[in-house]
Amino acid sequence: MSKISTKPNNDFCPQTLFLYGTYDEDGKPDFGLFCWFSYVWDGELGVMCCIGGNKLTRTNIERDKVFSANLVTEELLPFADYLGNVKGEDPEKMKIGLDIGKGEVLNVPILNNSPVNFELEVKEFVQLHDGEVMICKIRNVLQDEALFAKDVSTEEKLAKIAPVKTTKVEYFGYDGKSRGAWGEPMKALKK
Ligand SMILES: Cc1cc2nc3c(=O)[nH]c(=O)nc-3n(C[C@H](O)[C@H](O)[C@H](O)COP(=O)(O)O)c2cc1C
Repeated sequence: MSKISTKPNNDFCPQTLFLYGTYDEDGKPDFGLFCWFSYVWDGELGVMCCIGGNKLTRTNIERDKVFSANLVTEELLPFADYLGNVKGEDPEKMKIGLDIGKGEVLNVPILNNSPVNFELEVKEFVQLHDGEVMICKIRNVLQDEALFAKDVSTEEKLAKIAPVKTTKVEYFGYDGKSRGAWGEPMKALKK
């Protein structure tokens, strides 16, 4: 295999997408779309994530130290794309009819239509020049009860929930087919 050196990037390394749920200082839920999300080990499984620049999600997490991370599926993609392209400061942002619930352990908003919701508590903030890494304890995971079925394989369950991936500013469905560039799926939403 011959290789070509290129500038720092993560092209062709697909990332799983999550919607982070927080409350603002007035207790209003806000959701933003995130892909810099992975796991750590510290005697038990934990989560690490990076938020770049200033945004409402970051302000809310720094204040409350808790948030939810909700797995993005093909069904949720138009909403997810919208929530990643509209700033939380826009007072109209959350008026899109999301089905929002509450965490079972932490005071965090969750998306009822996402099959996997993490309830996360930040244990450590690592300040970078223009961003921040958050190392989190997983305080609870809420999963669709269908994911516990004993007679259904993991392959079938994954195909059913159909998580979305992203790389190169484009979304890909669970079948690997393109679901449009960033900013496209949201056009299907009627506001
Ligand atoms: C596909 C996609 C992935 C994103 N991933 C991240 C991420 O990992 N970290 C980040 O800081 N911003 C990320 N963003 C940008 C945020 O979603 C965006 O700043 C959004 O406005 C955050 O919501 P808020 O303004 O309500 O906090 C991503 C946007 C898109 C479209």
